[in-house]
Amino acid sequence: MNLTQMVRSVYPNLTPYTCSLADLPVEEMKQALGLEQVYKLSFNENPLGPSPKAIAAMQQALTQLNLYPSSSGEAVLNKIAEKEGVQPQNVILSNGADEMIILVAQTFLEPEDEAIIPQICFVQYLASTNLMGAKPVFSPMKEDLGIDLDGALQKITDKTKVIFLCNPNNPTGTVIPADELRAFVARVPENVLVVIDEAYHEFADGDGYASSVELTRDFANVFVIRTFSKVYSLAAARIGYGIGQTELVDAVNHVRPPFNVNSIAQAGALASLDDAEHVAASRQNNAIGKKLLCDTFDELGLTYLKSQANFVCVDTGRDGKAVFDRLAERGFIVRTLAGYGLKSSLRISIGREEEMRAFVAAFKEVMQESDLPTIKN
Ligand SMILES: Cc1ncc(COP(=O)(O)O)c(C=O)c1O
Repeated sequence: MNLTQMVRSVYPNLTPYTCSLADLPVEEMKQALGLEQVYKLSFNENPLGPSPKAIAAMQQALTQLNLYPSSSGEAVLNKIAEKEGVQPQNVILSNGADEMIILVAQTFLEPEDEAIIPQICFVQYLASTNLMGAKPVFSPMKEDLGIDLDGALQKITDKTKVIFLCNPNNPTGTVIPADELRAFVARVPENVLVVIDEAYHEFADGDGYASSVELTRDFANVFVIRTFSKVYSLAAARIGYGIGQTELVDAVNHVRPPFNVNSIAQAGALASLDDAEHVAASRQNNAIGKKLLCDTFDELGLTYLKSQANFVCVDTGRDGKAVFDRLAERGFIVRTLAGYGLKSSLRISIGREEEMRAFVAAFKEVMQESDLPTIKN
């Protein structure tokens, strides 16, 4: 059997999910580092854990694991629709936002198509484009590392099928103001789909941000992606959703596997949507941790991006990998950004207040070490 001849022609462009130190589950991080205490600040997870209401609902769902889940997740669709002011037929569930990105690619991208992706953006847009054998076209970032919408418009050709945007953007945390996004969408040809990933939506409350669900009412070619992995803290349950006009949602539904979202995830999501207190506590924890981080960066004279998400991207002015290694020795795992050309930057997820206090103490210590190589992005 010659596997190299058997795999699809896109195979050389596909990479398995990496398992570097920053990608490991926390117990494996502890093992790898030989440390008892490790702070995982590399995944933009919610440190408060799921809502107690969600945990109770998921425990209850365990007793029915012999039964297949609802295929569409009707109860969850109804609740999301009510919350977002749309109809249930405008919503579709997925196995995390990751799967929704793949479903969109599978629904729309042919090998001859182009997908526009901002240069510094979540990696799964590229992975899904490659999976379909379509051509990724990178659009530039602005000087301040915000997404350059004019730059994206200039990349549109008659082969463009999809434009991926992330708002707030990962890994920068910056937002595209709602008025700019609306003006942009109005200039995009109607046969080009604009996918707006709002994984961090619930953390954003400033800098002109507003959800693009509003845009889906006016534009048939806008599709919004959300997740329960972030503010709702259900990352391991794997549930996300998309919102768009009925025809668009119906098209993606043709590609969706029959039971893509398990019943535990559906039960957890449903209960989470009823726990506004947990969302408020998560947002508050995030605001406190983000302030602690940013105050520290100000004190150290470091440049960082104003974030509307649950992480901050900071330019350490040193070799990012070296800073990463020294933080790791102390039990703090963050994210390097050299893959995006940001060699001196790190992305740090917001943990609990006490974790962030411990982190800033360690970070200050590391930054005082005089043998760290200084570099510029
Ligand atoms: C922008 C963005 N989209 C999607 C995802 C994937 O989310 P999920 O856990 O729902 O697959 C992430 C995860 O970090 C993300 O940052």
